[in-house]
Amino acid sequence: MSDYHIKNLEEYFQVYRRSVQDPESFWASIAEEHFVWQKKWDNVLSWDFTKPEIKWFEGAQLNITENCIDRHLATRGDKTAILFEPNDPNKEARHISYRELHDNVCRFANVLRSQGISKGDRVCIYLPMIPELAFSVLACARIGAIHSVVFAGFSATALATRINDSDCKMVITCDGSFRGNKIIDLKAIVDEALKNCPCVETVLVAKHINSNTPLKEGRDKWLHPLLNTAPKECIPETMAAEDPLFILYTSGSTGTPKGMVHTTAGYMVYTAYTFKNVFQYEEDEVYWCTADIGWITGHSYIIYGPLANGATTVMFEGVPSYPDWGRFWQIVEKHRVNQFYTAPTAIRALAKENLSFVERHDLSSLKVLGTVGEPINEEAWHWYNDNIGKKKSPVVDTWWQTETGGILISPIPFATPTIPTFATLPLPGIQPCLMDENSMEMDGLQVDGRLCIKFPWPSMARTIWGNHQRYKDTYFSAFENKYFTGDGALRDTTGYYRITGRVDDVIIVSGHNLGTAPIEDAVNEHPAVAESAIVGFPHDVKGNALYGYVILKETGEDRDHDNVRKEINQIITEHIGPIAKLDKIQFTSGLPKTRSGKIMRRILRKIACKDTSNLGDTSTLLNPEVVEDIMKNVV
Ligand code: PRX
Repeated sequence: MSDYHIKNLEEYFQVYRRSVQDPESFWASIAEEHFVWQKKWDNVLSWDFTKPEIKWFEGAQLNITENCIDRHLATRGDKTAILFEPNDPNKEARHISYRELHDNVCRFANVLRSQGISKGDRVCIYLPMIPELAFSVLACARIGAIHSVVFAGFSATALATRINDSDCKMVITCDGSFRGNKIIDLKAIVDEALKNCPCVETVLVAKHINSNTPLKEGRDKWLHPLLNTAPKECIPETMAAEDPLFILYTSGSTGTPKGMVHTTAGYMVYTAYTFKNVFQYEEDEVYWCTADIGWITGHSYIIYGPLANGATTVMFEGVPSYPDWGRFWQIVEKHRVNQFYTAPTAIRALAKENLSFVERHDLSSLKVLGTVGEPINEEAWHWYNDNIGKKKSPVVDTWWQTETGGILISPIPFATPTIPTFATLPLPGIQPCLMDENSMEMDGLQVDGRLCIKFPWPSMARTIWGNHQRYKDTYFSAFENKYFTGDGALRDTTGYYRITGRVDDVIIVSGHNLGTAPIEDAVNEHPAVAESAIVGFPHDVKGNALYGYVILKETGEDRDHDNVRKEINQIITEHIGPIAKLDKIQFTSGLPKTRSGKIMRRILRKIACKDTSNLGDTSTLLNPEVVEDIMKNVV
């Protein structure tokens, strides 16, 4: 039996036991047997959650691209590494072999070097789902530059904040992107952002839609002419195990986004290991994750995890509804996809459409179905299991976070029996626990509490870029000596975990994490707004939608409320992006506050959810009278 590939439940329990009894030798043997190292480590793990400081494989030297590309060339040189499916179904898919991937990444890495980028520099990547996105990520890793991919749906302001936070020297973008039947001028967004980013010296522009976007003299360069003349070989930079690999921003409960820093060796080992087991990937299978590489799911399970295993990974440029709602299933049929990994919000949207979109396609290649990003409701789970998996492909409900780098709680298909809405059991090496309100660990089964992890795992984020104190405060201060996830969970009578949702001020809308504070900051930018509070309410496709309570300034003017609503959403779109728009806006004269001036969001949440039977004791509020008023005018 190999620890690397778990095939049944008995093996899972044995491997799990070993992984927690002696984590160091467990991870060391996986690292030793399945990866190439320029130099082996001196020490497997050192950790101290009070600082917090976590180091895996200290002393080791490696390059992750050697593990994801070079080592496959001898045996898999002609195998498709990336299978690119364009937005337009009439355009040909592109099969990029491991050899072609190697050439492209090496050329790109040489271009980066020739443009003055070296180890440790930050490079912002703002691209749609095209091969250049994967190439640029890997090219950064090849030379030790730290990539910071920003999801191409973010606005110019959001992009500028992220570029400045990590002082990026370069931005890689393209002349525009296709999304369904829309064209988005990405370059114009970059130009707008860069008005406020003095740190950026160079912008590389890939030609994708053939627009004649103007280039700024001295700053902007077309990418492809540089690539075409760059050498095809590039010696990989030697990286220390704990050298940063990338920064990826995630929303927090307060203010600015958090630049989560992931390092090299532990991230590589853990994402590769979990990819193999959670998707039970076998040679010659075709794996497809529909996420965008702008999110952690794309980093870990489109690029690094699959490529470290020599897999074929599909990259889809388009959207599930174009040219019609059968597109996903048409792609599954066309490429004989074996593993399919998507988000509950996509499943709910697909389930609303006519079943004939599914039935007209041959889905018999499917072996494993995955979900990620938010709790999956029972109805969506059954729809997925029955209509897509035909009850024969296990559904793996994978729980994890940008901060965790890889999947922590998930069934192992064909081993762990699944139950709808349960992420089930921790993967090897993961030691979850539930904490009660008095910060005591809840032993036993059938309990419900705050989900923490007691022991380090290789792919955990090591810090927040430029703000280690915030890292400590956010994740290691709520409960002593534990990583706090921000999620609530219950453990049932069999030890299975079910994630119940966020317990902080982060709301997950269509699978995207949105902190309430940055949205409130944007709303408050409207000249007529005095104060605002944002809460979530259930939505049948998005999971949650946003509800804004807004107090307008008393100017004596009679304002057109519909107009103000539109303007508020316009400002949100400019500051963050369209994903953070408010579905409902209620104008109110006051917000319920505690005597210390804190907004009582619990009450606002209940009112927005139209669940006002038990609002709790409101008499201790500073202004109990506003509650009645808000309830009367609920939208
Ligand atoms: O609340 C949990 C939810 O998504 C959060 C992490 O979001 P993000 O950092 O954007 O990463 C998403 C992709 C890994 C978690 O704190 N979440 C993620 N997966 C699940 C989930 N909630 C319930 N079930 C899941 N399977």
